[in-house]
Amino acid sequence: MPEQIKIGIINVSDRASAGVYEDIPGQSAKEILSDYLLNPVAFEYAVIPDEQARIEAQLKQMADDDGCCLVITTGGTGPALRDVTPEATEAVSEKLMPGFGELMRATSLQYVPTAILSRQTAGIRGSCLIVNLPGKPKAIRECLEAVFPAVPYCIDLIGGPYLESNTQHIVCFRPKSK
Ligand code: MTE
Repeated sequence: MPEQIKIGIINVSDRASAGVYEDIPGQSAKEILSDYLLNPVAFEYAVIPDEQARIEAQLKQMADDDGCCLVITTGGTGPALRDVTPEATEAVSEKLMPGFGELMRATSLQYVPTAILSRQTAGIRGSCLIVNLPGKPKAIRECLEAVFPAVPYCIDLIGGPYLESNTQHIVCFRPKSK
């Protein structure tokens, strides 16, 4: 039986946090991750406004206090004045993982030319991988599908739990041991 893991999901959106929009991005990230993983997952969940200090505090809580091995943010990656999710991610990360943003933008460009407007990135804080996704619900699936195959091995490398993927939904890659 795969071990139980904790994953954080943060929907960063002024309007969703004010109750103007339904939290569709956060819910869709949760559903996709539940399909991808055989591990029982306890989700930590937050819907917060586009405020850098709030995002940083939420990321720290999920990584340090809640013990999440993975935190997914949705939204706030674009060029608009209030979009600050990548800045918050960079501020709390000990290491940046630029390959995640590069692959997500490259993949997203196959769907929309505006993919270049997302400044999405990823980083490591302790034993937690933080990954930014854009806020559009369809972008969540497009981006997760692209990068998730490398996520379990990344979490191995930072000392997190062993993630087992459900190969009916996603095939992940771990290099053979040296
Ligand atoms: N990536 C994918 N895969 N699909 C999309 O529809 N939308 C783009 C981009 N990346 C999009 C995408 C658009 S229109 C914007 S403005 C940026 O993500 C930033 O979105 P965000 O501010 O909601 O994070």
